[in-house]
Amino acid sequence: MASGTTATARAAQGAAAELGAAFEAAVAADERIEPRDWMPDAYRAGLVRQIAQHAHSEIIGMQPEANWIARAPSLRRKAILMAKVQDEAGHGLYLYGAAETLGTSRAELLDKLHEGRQKYSSIFNYPTLTWADVGAIGWLVDGAAITNQVPLCRCSYGPYARAMVRICKEESFHQRQGYELLLALSRGTEAQHAMAQDAVDRWWWPSLMMFGPPDAESPHSAQSMAWKIKRHSNDELRQRFVDICVPQAEALGLTLPDPDLRWNEQRGHYDHGAIDWAEFHEVLKGNGPCNEQRLAQRRQAHEEGAWVREAAAAYAAKQQRAAHREEREALAS
Ligand SMILES: [Fe+2]
Ligand SMILES: [Fe+2]
Repeated sequence: MASGTTATARAAQGAAAELGAAFEAAVAADERIEPRDWMPDAYRAGLVRQIAQHAHSEIIGMQPEANWIARAPSLRRKAILMAKVQDEAGHGLYLYGAAETLGTSRAELLDKLHEGRQKYSSIFNYPTLTWADVGAIGWLVDGAAITNQVPLCRCSYGPYARAMVRICKEESFHQRQGYELLLALSRGTEAQHAMAQDAVDRWWWPSLMMFGPPDAESPHSAQSMAWKIKRHSNDELRQRFVDICVPQAEALGLTLPDPDLRWNEQRGHYDHGAIDWAEFHEVLKGNGPCNEQRLAQRRQAHEEGAWVREAAAAYAAKQQRAAHREEREALAS
């Protein structure tokens, strides 16, 4: 009996080692890991954490801009902004869907968000004070999101990578609408130009913080890179973003609020000033200007949507009953 148990345990160990090796080989060969494939628990948990945080950011990110829908200066601007905010809801859906393939329900993730047990991007805890903020968010925040997310289209987990392909296409529309909006303001009256500059002054530094802490202080980075969930380090992506933005700011006729920003011939990149990481950590801890308001509004929206979820569940159950009845009738005939 004892030797039988040992043999079974040894066989199970052997099978687990084989699965682990197959997973590592697939990652090394740049193949996609799919929902039914075996994966290490930490890979699954890390992906759920990252995808959830991403999904939460998409839906919380609807709030600062939705704040301006009713006050958009023209019908054209209103239609564009509404389309953009709806896109963000869609991004949330794709991502919650991707997390579901890992065995985590949307309801569970939303509960964690509402209870403050999961995070969303700290950028959305800043207020949108003027219409120009809609432009600055599109240009800088969506721009930073694209820089972060384009490499995720090649992420090792199939459903996440595929969701990112569509999201990135839409994000690039968002970035362009923001740029175009800022350009119109920058070339407008003196007051409009000043409004655009003020928005860029307020959003620039928080946008740089979107790439996360410096590599040395980023707790999940190394493992994420080894598993090819992440393809580039935080600092690398931040540098890429700065290099893209400097000439765009010049074309906009706006300045970036960093006296230390200059081209470094040797590195072939722009150097930038020090980021205020104390501010980043404060916002992350819940002490940003809008943390409480964002979560309260999210919880309220969730409560007010209860009847929609109930109706959808009742409808799905009804459809399922009808399908079963048809099946039974087909079998009986
Ligand atoms: Fe988005
Ligand atoms: Fe976006």
